[in-house]
Amino acid sequence: MSRIAYVNGRYLPHRDATIHVEDRGYQFSDGVYEVAAVCRGRIVDEEPHLDRLERSLRELRMRLPMSRRAIKAVSRETLRRNRIRDGMLYTQITRGVAPRDHLFPERTRSALVMTARAVPWPLDAASDPGAQVISVPDIRWARRDVKSISLLPNVLAKQDARERGAYEAWMIDDEGFVTEGSSTNAWIVDADGHAVTRDLGHHILSGITRGTVIRLARENGIEVVERPFTLAEAKASPEAFLTSTTSFVRAVVGIDGSAVGDGHCGPITLKLRRLYLDYLRNSGANA
Ligand code: PDD
Repeated sequence: MSRIAYVNGRYLPHRDATIHVEDRGYQFSDGVYEVAAVCRGRIVDEEPHLDRLERSLRELRMRLPMSRRAIKAVSRETLRRNRIRDGMLYTQITRGVAPRDHLFPERTRSALVMTARAVPWPLDAASDPGAQVISVPDIRWARRDVKSISLLPNVLAKQDARERGAYEAWMIDDEGFVTEGSSTNAWIVDADGHAVTRDLGHHILSGITRGTVIRLARENGIEVVERPFTLAEAKASPEAFLTSTTSFVRAVVGIDGSAVGDGHCGPITLKLRRLYLDYLRNSGANA
């Protein structure tokens, strides 16, 4: 079956799904995006993803090109046309097409693209292979809370990780604190068994998975502390893990080549992973 993409009002075969050379996303990275997981036919955490999309747009002085209801209708139609039951939905909005000029165009409509891809999610808690992580300096701009399509430092960091045999790169700020991964949020477990993750602000993305995991942890008796932690603290922690829409909750078993804890997925991480996978299988699907 051929894939279908939504591009500015039309559903097109993937190979014909092109945008204009003067789309400001292409020329200036002037746009934002969302990645949502689809599980058993439903969009996981759809409302929080749309809230974050609207917030990112607002911060860049853009607006949704159509109503939230219409966006949801396009999402469902894109999933239907691609026959996605398990997979991911990608949404991108840019400031639109205009003659190249740094200034905002006056009357240009923002451009909306949606694609979907089938992914056979492994929803089995026992299958977590554990991730190796490397550390890299965080060289990104100061508004990482905006889910901008400008991802060059993230791309370089992830490539670095891959070439050094790791799954993810954790980015370290000027004071030695871990901000987040190149496409995931970073967590450790402290000596008291509390799950620790960086507090929200301009310095990290407010991950949707992060938010859901915080709620699930608290509902199930695991204390969560939102505070900065250093790379040294992470390396000395009994457990570490990462969260994202496509990685779910995944154990970090090594950082810069040294084992975290005993080098295996620890009990708190496993519990959170199980809770999150249950959420995906059951109530997480709320559309
Ligand atoms: N990445 N931090 C960064 C820098 C990210 O790019 C992402 C998401 C996250 C986790 O956020 P969430 O839980 O909402 O997925 C944290 C997406 C999946 C991506 O770029 O593919």
